[in-house]
Amino acid sequence: MGDHGAAVREYELFTPEVMADPNGFLHRVRAESPLAWLPQLDAYLLTRYADVNAALRSKRMDSANMARVLQRLAPAEQRELAPVRRSIEMWMGHTVPADHVRFQQLLKRYFTPATVDRLRPRVREFTHELLDAVAAKGQMDVVRDLAYPLPANVIAELLGMPVSDREQLQAWSRDIVPIFSNGDVQQLRTAQRSMLEMHDYLRLIAADRRRAPREDVLSTFVAAEAEGLITEDEAVANCVLLLFAGHETTANLIANGLVLLFGNPDQLALLREDPGRMPSAVEEMLRCDGPAGIIGRVAREPVELAGHTVPAGRHVYLALMAANRDPDVFGDPDRFDVMREGNRHLSFGMGTYYCLGAALARMETDECLRILLDRCPDLRPAYQSPDWLPSAPLGHRLGSLPVTF
Ligand code: HEM
Repeated sequence: MGDHGAAVREYELFTPEVMADPNGFLHRVRAESPLAWLPQLDAYLLTRYADVNAALRSKRMDSANMARVLQRLAPAEQRELAPVRRSIEMWMGHTVPADHVRFQQLLKRYFTPATVDRLRPRVREFTHELLDAVAAKGQMDVVRDLAYPLPANVIAELLGMPVSDREQLQAWSRDIVPIFSNGDVQQLRTAQRSMLEMHDYLRLIAADRRRAPREDVLSTFVAAEAEGLITEDEAVANCVLLLFAGHETTANLIANGLVLLFGNPDQLALLREDPGRMPSAVEEMLRCDGPAGIIGRVAREPVELAGHTVPAGRHVYLALMAANRDPDVFGDPDRFDVMREGNRHLSFGMGTYYCLGAALARMETDECLRILLDRCPDLRPAYQSPDWLPSAPLGHRLGSLPVTF
């Protein structure tokens, strides 16, 4: 049970109503009970912009452990999956604040505006390559042929992987995802095997970069290792974090963004008329259907949230997607408006854990959609309704996105 008074209402999350219309559900929760209790998750939920923003910035809240899903397993399975848990516990954001700051400072050496500028021409090349591969057919599945491989190629590039190993990275990524989406034990075993394989592979690259540094993340890490700032285990674990943090998220933004454009032909026309509107269109895609719809926190000490005191140790979910449609902050919040001004969405988080890859993800999505629209003047959806996967109720991920051009 939650530890709250009558003013905090309870809601079931795993219902057909929520699955069918998550935004409608969240509008209702926001209006009825700014702090809500989710008995199925044994956790609170925040939906108002002001409250989500305050919780993101609060020093009294820790990031929730991604390995939490492993804790529901039987003891023998937990022992079997201990290596994957230990590795995730080394990810920045899961560590104590001092280690978090240490990793953040290291990664900021790599994630600079200059790196984003350096990767831009590569992103253009990757996008053209992927479109060349399907051009003659006049049709493609945007998820499989473009949105999924593009950010994987970018991460392969930033990890310093040779072109020949790119497909391998996508396979690892596919295997590892179930850890964070309630996979069954068999999937978790596969995930662990792939994660450990990826660790071994990254150790080989790290050894090479110690001899001959380049402009990639592992070169940054091994330089820091020489300064005594990071261990090799921490370095390889955090490379897997980058894959997890930057692959599916960016892929979903590209694919979901295109669905928004198809669903709003007037807005697509505005972009075709002036592709210079793409940056604000990408912000609006992030606001309306950002890939990280909901994120977790744990109260480190008693904390005041939406007028209630939440005790230490309690899990609190922050519905970024609900904050992004709060009518107190965004006029006509359910309207997709590529020219929206003052779009202060929270899709990359805020405060201590703010997304380190935000500029990279924005650039990838911008370049990819710009090139797609430019090369395909007759781009059309080839589906009756979007192929949303039956994933977590507040997740919004496409299985496929067939188009013709
Ligand atoms: C559209 C794509 C993306 C979205 C929506 C997104 C979203 C987010 C969000 C919401 C957080 C904060 C999590 C929290 O507060 O608990 C975060 C953190 C993070 N993101 Fe992203 N992200 C995206 C792309 C990327 C990319 C491309 C990379 C790098 C390759 C990246 C690397 C990170 C890292 C390292 C963190 C942890 C920051 C920290 O703990 O200090 N993300 N991201």
